[in-house]
Amino acid sequence: MANFRTLDHVDVKGKRILLRVDLNVPLENGVVTDATRIERVAPAITELADAGGKVILLSHFGRPKGKREPKDSLKPVAAEVARVVKRPVKFIDDCIGEVAEKAVAAMKPGDIICLENTRFYPGEEKNDPAFVKQLAKLGDIWVNDAFSAAHRAHASTEGLGHVLPAYAGRTMQAELEALGKALEHPSHPVAAIVGGAKISTKLDLLANLLQKVDALIIGGAMANTFLLAQGKPVGKSLVEKDLVDTARKIMDEAKSAKREIVLPVDVVVAKEFKANAPSRAVGLDEVGDGDMILDIGPRSVEFVCSVLARSKTLVWNGPFGAFEMEPFDNGTVEVAEAAAELTGNRELVTVAGGGDTVAALNAAGVGDRLTYVSTAGGAFLEWLEGKALPGVEVLRAK
Ligand code: 3PG
Ligand code: MG
Repeated sequence: MANFRTLDHVDVKGKRILLRVDLNVPLENGVVTDATRIERVAPAITELADAGGKVILLSHFGRPKGKREPKDSLKPVAAEVARVVKRPVKFIDDCIGEVAEKAVAAMKPGDIICLENTRFYPGEEKNDPAFVKQLAKLGDIWVNDAFSAAHRAHASTEGLGHVLPAYAGRTMQAELEALGKALEHPSHPVAAIVGGAKISTKLDLLANLLQKVDALIIGGAMANTFLLAQGKPVGKSLVEKDLVDTARKIMDEAKSAKREIVLPVDVVVAKEFKANAPSRAVGLDEVGDGDMILDIGPRSVEFVCSVLARSKTLVWNGPFGAFEMEPFDNGTVEVAEAAAELTGNRELVTVAGGGDTVAALNAAGVGDRLTYVSTAGGAFLEWLEGKALPGVEVLRAK
């Protein structure tokens, strides 16, 4: 972490710390249904409070577009934070202005407060200097612990870093270290699993990964477009016909760069897209006109596992099949199990992240048996694309 300012470089005692966290968690009827993001950041919150800092939590929630939307209030989330950190967390009904200023002025070292949703003000997403200034008034330092929001150049994720002394929080630090180990300075061979429905949303990601990994394993409906490019029948499967040429180009590029592209060697097909629809595993040439490819087959699972067995690092984004419907989660579950086992034996460093991936790996029961599972969605994808993340860049030591 030589190039980042971290909490090792500051004494927080008595300081007002604007701690940017990502409290954008799933909420149903006022109840947080998945507290993973809160659990991740909890030790960082208590560390700062224990060191005598005045901890002021800043976060967005939902997409209220610059207006006060009661359904996007952080109030119930702040209550969940209190439950997870096992300390009082006072919720403050605003994130700037008199109400917020008074609340901060009343804080004692070790206190934790949570300010209202920063996106209730248009200045947040616009990264408006006037709004940044109002936020900055509340703190002595800014600590960014929200990797999952670091792809946004907003006032609380980026702007504050230009006007206050800025540091990477512990959660951010752990994330950057884990991600660095996976793609920036990994042990080779490196394999990547890229799944999901569409190539069109992952073109930049595939291009960047092809330069960095030794084996690119393609799963999900995305693989169907590659199979079609190889002249294989795909029946009624989800496929992007207009991207067949692109898929061909990606395969040619991989060949000249001497990278291996791993595609399914057999598939599981069904006539209907529904849970427990009658299904069968078939060879690539046996997919019929009425068939839909919904998962990889057993020989593919074996093949993918053999690639993992000869790799030292794995980056995983996206499931193999229609993992949300049994039995089409099989491919994902079996590969996940193998990855977890290799990780447990210290034979493989596994880093996973991005939207569906976390849900799929948790459903496979391996979420806590991999080296690192990022809770980031869009930020993880942009990182895989090789893009600079504004909320990370602003933390680099100049
Ligand atoms: C997320 O949930 O991916 C982050 O909190 C970013 O949210 P956003 O996509 O609304 O900016
Ligand atoms: Mg998002």
